[in-house]
Amino acid sequence: VPLSEHNTFGFDVEAEQLVTITEPGQLVELQEWLERNPQPLLVLGGGSNLVLSADIPGVVARMAIRRWDVAFKGDEVSVWVGAGENWHETVERTLFEGFYGLENLALIPGTVGAAPVQNIGAYGVEIKDRLGRVEVFDRQNRVLKLLDNADCLFAYRDSLFKSGEPDRYIITAVEFRLSRVAGVQVGYAALDAAIEKDGPVTPRQVFDAVCRVRRQKLPSPEVLGNAGSFFKNPLVSVEQGLVLKAQEPDLVAYPDVGGGYKLAAGWLIDRCGLKGYRQGNVGTYPEQALVVVNWGRGNRTEVEQLADYIQQQVMARFGVWLEPEPRFYP
Ligand code: EPU
Repeated sequence: VPLSEHNTFGFDVEAEQLVTITEPGQLVELQEWLERNPQPLLVLGGGSNLVLSADIPGVVARMAIRRWDVAFKGDEVSVWVGAGENWHETVERTLFEGFYGLENLALIPGTVGAAPVQNIGAYGVEIKDRLGRVEVFDRQNRVLKLLDNADCLFAYRDSLFKSGEPDRYIITAVEFRLSRVAGVQVGYAALDAAIEKDGPVTPRQVFDAVCRVRRQKLPSPEVLGNAGSFFKNPLVSVEQGLVLKAQEPDLVAYPDVGGGYKLAAGWLIDRCGLKGYRQGNVGTYPEQALVVVNWGRGNRTEVEQLADYIQQQVMARFGVWLEPEPRFYP
C-alpha cells in the first residue's frame, strides 16, 4: 500500500498493511489480532513528524476517529476532540466557537491525536498548557482509559507517549480546557512584530499573525515535503551558554525553566552557512535553516546523510550536538 500521501516528507514508501481506525472499539480487535500474529504496529496521524523507510513492515493504523463534545463550567469549556481530526481545523473551530487558547498553535500540520505525543508547541504555548485529559487505548491491558495531564509526563517536544512508554498507548481523543473569555499569549518577538494592533490584542489577531509568520518561514508540506523543525533546540549548561555568548555575541539563547540555556538550533545551522544548503534531493529551507525539505525524490537515507553532516558541522563550530525531532521508522 503506497503511503506517499500519508507522510509529509512525501517519500515514496510502501506499507505491508494499512488499516483505518474510525472508532476506539476497533483497537481491541486490532490488538487481539496482533497478539495472535505478532508484528510491528505504526500508529499514523498526519505523518507530519515521521521519517519513513521505503518498506514499512507489519501494520500501519491510520487514526481517523472523529469526535467533538463540548461541556461548559462557568467561563471554562472542556472540548473532547477525536484523534483523527485535523489539528489546524480544530484550532479554527475552537476560535470560531469563541473557545480561546489554541490560537498560537495555528497551522501546525498533523492530527489532534498526534499532537500530545511530541507536545507540539509554538510562539510561547505548548499543547500541555491547554490539555485536560487524554483518552487512550492501553495495548497492555486492552482497555480504554483516561490519563490526566500530569500522567502524560509532558516536557519540551516529549511525553509519556514518545519517550516514556512509546508503544503502550494509542491516543483516541484529547480534552482541551479552553476559556470563553478572550485572552492572548504574547511575548514571542517574531509573533508580536506580526500582530496588527488597533487596541487590545484579540485571539483572532494572534491567530492571523501566527498564520502569517508560519507561511513566511515554514514551507507548506503540500507544496514542499518536510516535517517541520528537524532538530530540537538544544539545551546547554549556564557555563557553556556564557562561553558561547562571549564567542558569538548575537547567539540566540533563552534561559530555560530548568536552568541552563536553550539555543536556537536554526540560528546555529544558519551561522554554519547551511541555510538553504542542498545535498542531492534534500536540503535546509532557505527561509528557516531548522527545516529539512525534500526537493523531490528524496528519501530517508539522503535525509540521514544531510542530518549527519549538519550535526558534525554544528558540533565542530559550537560543541553542541543536535538531536533530531521527528521519529525515524522503522
Ligand atoms: N534563526 C536564524 N536562522 C534560521 C532560523 C532561525 O537566525 O535559519 C533565528 C531566528 O531569527 C530567531 C531564532 O533563530 O531569532 C528562533 O527562530 P524561530 O522563531 O523561527 O523558532 P525556532 O526556535 O527555530 C521553534 C520551534 C518551532 C516553532 C517556533 C515558534 C523547535 C524545534 N521548533 O523554532 O516548531 O514553530 O519555535 O515557536 O522547538 C516544529 O517543532 O516543527 C516547529 C516548527
